[in-house]
Amino acid sequence: MRRPTIGVFDSGFGGLTVLKALLELIPVADYLYFGDTARLPYGSKSAQTVAKYAVEATQYLEQHGAGLLVIACNTATALALDPIRDASSVPVIGVVDPGAERASMVSENRKVAVIGTEATIGSHAYLRALEMRGLEAREKACPLLVPLVEEGWVDHPVTEQVARIYLEEVFTDGFANADVLLLGCTHYPLLKPVLRRVAPQHAAIVDSAESTAQVVAEQLRLAPPSVAPPQERLRPTLLRFFATDSAEKFRRLGARFLGRPIEDVQHVDLKE
Ligand code: DGL
Repeated sequence: MRRPTIGVFDSGFGGLTVLKALLELIPVADYLYFGDTARLPYGSKSAQTVAKYAVEATQYLEQHGAGLLVIACNTATALALDPIRDASSVPVIGVVDPGAERASMVSENRKVAVIGTEATIGSHAYLRALEMRGLEAREKACPLLVPLVEEGWVDHPVTEQVARIYLEEVFTDGFANADVLLLGCTHYPLLKPVLRRVAPQHAAIVDSAESTAQVVAEQLRLAPPSVAPPQERLRPTLLRFFATDSAEKFRRLGARFLGRPIEDVQHVDLKE
């Protein structure tokens, strides 16, 4: 009779925005977070490499007790969801479908602008997920935004200028009236204030981190792993972090994404 242990995987720190949304929505659970910080960024790598790295990391989470896997990384979801599912024996939830579903619920004129890394946009995973739901999509890779967020420039004039240039190229021609901006990257929720300023006012911002947390909550309601006894429910949330690069750096940078201090970080060396 245990409460759920949710494994959250990302290429690095950005997936902590998904963990943050999960903690708000599902506080009575334990969480294992794996950040593949030694091998990031995934956004500029090939599908084959991303799949290899992501499968290794998610298997590590499963071996350490995860009963459900959340692929918080948009790039890993877009390029490697099938290989991850094939290698896992627990349910796997990615971020693309929940984000597309939410966009579909919000959009009235069925036109959506999607932004993400080179690899996510190059895979057209969001385009396919949106078209399946009867929406038109225009995709735009915004490779400069991840390093700007990692630099801590989340509300900086340079970031605002870069975001403005990217979005001007999306909200134009037949897409000037797109009424949703879908954030297809873990790092972009931190840029919401900047993006709100530079995106057209008629466009709603949809965050795949929040939509994914909702899908996980629904999945747990439908298939609760078990009913936790009262003392289990009262126990504080167990949060463990694994990082393939420096634990100290993960603690320092990660706190910014999670919005709270990070304590229990273990360095992991995944052998090639
Ligand atoms: N986590 C990645 C994503 O959501 C962004 C960072 C990276 O490129 O590794 O696409």
